[in-house]
Amino acid sequence: MPALASAGRWWEGAAGYEIYVPSFADGNGDGLGDLTGICARLDYLAWLGIDLVWLTPFYLSPLADHGYDVAGHCRVDPRFGDAAAFGAVIAEAHRLGLRVLIDLVANHTSAEHPWFRASRSSRSSAQRDWYLWRDPAPGGGPPNNWASAFGGPAWTFDPATAQWYLHLHLPEQPDLNWSNPHVAAAFDRVLEFWLDRGVDGFRIDVAHELVKHPGLPDNPPRAAVPGTLREPGTVPDWERLEHRYDLDQPGALGIHRRWRRIADRYGALLLGEVYLLHADRLARYLMPADGIHAAFWVQPLAIGWDPPALGESLRQAVAATPPGSLAWVQGNHDDQSRPATRFGGGEQGRRRSLAFWALIAALPGMAFCYQGEELGLTDGQIPAGQLQDPLAVRNQAPELGRDRVRTPMPWRPGPGHGFTSASRPWLPDPGRTDADTVAAQRSDPGSYLRRFRDLLHLRRSLRLAASAPVRWLSPGSPVIGYWRPEVLVAMNGGPRDATVEVPSSATVAFSSAGTPGAARIARDAGGHAVLTLTPDQTVIVRTDGSGFPPGG
Ligand code: BGC
Repeated sequence: MPALASAGRWWEGAAGYEIYVPSFADGNGDGLGDLTGICARLDYLAWLGIDLVWLTPFYLSPLADHGYDVAGHCRVDPRFGDAAAFGAVIAEAHRLGLRVLIDLVANHTSAEHPWFRASRSSRSSAQRDWYLWRDPAPGGGPPNNWASAFGGPAWTFDPATAQWYLHLHLPEQPDLNWSNPHVAAAFDRVLEFWLDRGVDGFRIDVAHELVKHPGLPDNPPRAAVPGTLREPGTVPDWERLEHRYDLDQPGALGIHRRWRRIADRYGALLLGEVYLLHADRLARYLMPADGIHAAFWVQPLAIGWDPPALGESLRQAVAATPPGSLAWVQGNHDDQSRPATRFGGGEQGRRRSLAFWALIAALPGMAFCYQGEELGLTDGQIPAGQLQDPLAVRNQAPELGRDRVRTPMPWRPGPGHGFTSASRPWLPDPGRTDADTVAAQRSDPGSYLRRFRDLLHLRRSLRLAASAPVRWLSPGSPVIGYWRPEVLVAMNGGPRDATVEVPSSATVAFSSAGTPGAARIARDAGGHAVLTLTPDQTVIVRTDGSGFPPGG
């Protein structure tokens, strides 16, 4: 039985896995994923080589935003299970050597949360100030020009008390007022509640949104700067503003510091969703000894298949942040497209997604796989009229929806692909094939899943300390990559075969295209060892350290 290391930064180098709870596994046959279903599948994740599992919200919720609208932070929604089912997940995960992160949704609650119900009940409610209420602007409109990330104004008028409340997401997700000390104290209890039940840390939802500028000034319009990356999946209302006052305010760090003091008592991890596309801005959240321990680096999600840009994104992120403080991702439940689709679709997209996975495999930090990425899944296909994501439905904009990445995990051939015994899953996906399933791929040594697993096992065996330097290959060549001591990672981002010189001690440890034996190291006319890479191939080479470039 694998032992869980109890001390120190146990998450360093961990391979993480995001479980999107509604779509991972349905244990009770109602068509919706749940904790019992998850518990029964954890051994698969241990087999895959995962160290750390992140569970998206399973708390009491009206599910207006599929659980990110929490109506009871310390209660399990009956559709997802109960306290005993949660306890079973923790016990089974720990038995298998897996750590568990849960989602901490603290920027907003559900409008059905007892705190908000009390707050909206009257202007004199003791909890009125737990949320951000304001009088109408002169003339009667919303208090400022802020937009909701889900479309429309960020304010909703409450006729009963004749004030507006703020919500950066849905009207059903009112934003909390973090300058109120009672809110902060209530969340201390939430963290402690779950830590006392054995969780190993938190993924912090929109960790950069918690605090707003106290004066709530209008946001300026966004200046059109050519080449600026666009946050994937944002609505035009949100896009047209520069988010100067509604997010990324320095006060958020104070909240993270408060949580860090609690987390450190338990040896727990705080992993932030800090959705900023600039490494320097993200770096302000990553202080080596305080605040959140780590954050996802989401910029690659905003870049299509553009290998030099992807390589540069990784380089800048490593350069700007403390060693080991990032979690690398190429997809999550908030995308409009899975990476295999985003990178070109079909076999080409799958090949590129695995190549990008191999490219990040030896970087310092964690690496998170979003469920189904290990199978090389492309986007789900949802029948017309059956979209569920409020982003798509409320804006009548299917292209904005996140449903395509949220369809059920295909476990095995047969009805419901082993996800559910119900006649219909909550989000149907008739496009999945038997070849997509875990069972089919697990038994095929050449499958995407088996190569993905080989990669995770290699990554684990490399055991590179976060502090060990990263030296990048020179830009300008189609080959993108870097050296770590005794490891070279090289990806061919060009359309033709490309070569890179390697030390004579080099051996191929992983090839994203075929088996390690399929990658070629040959001697050129001058007697140098040369690795040849096919287009979209990443190779990880082990050496005796002789090729490691000197500092600089
Ligand atoms: C979550 C989303 C959610 C939003 C509002 C996020 O960033 O990942 O799924 O819609 O926060 O809670």
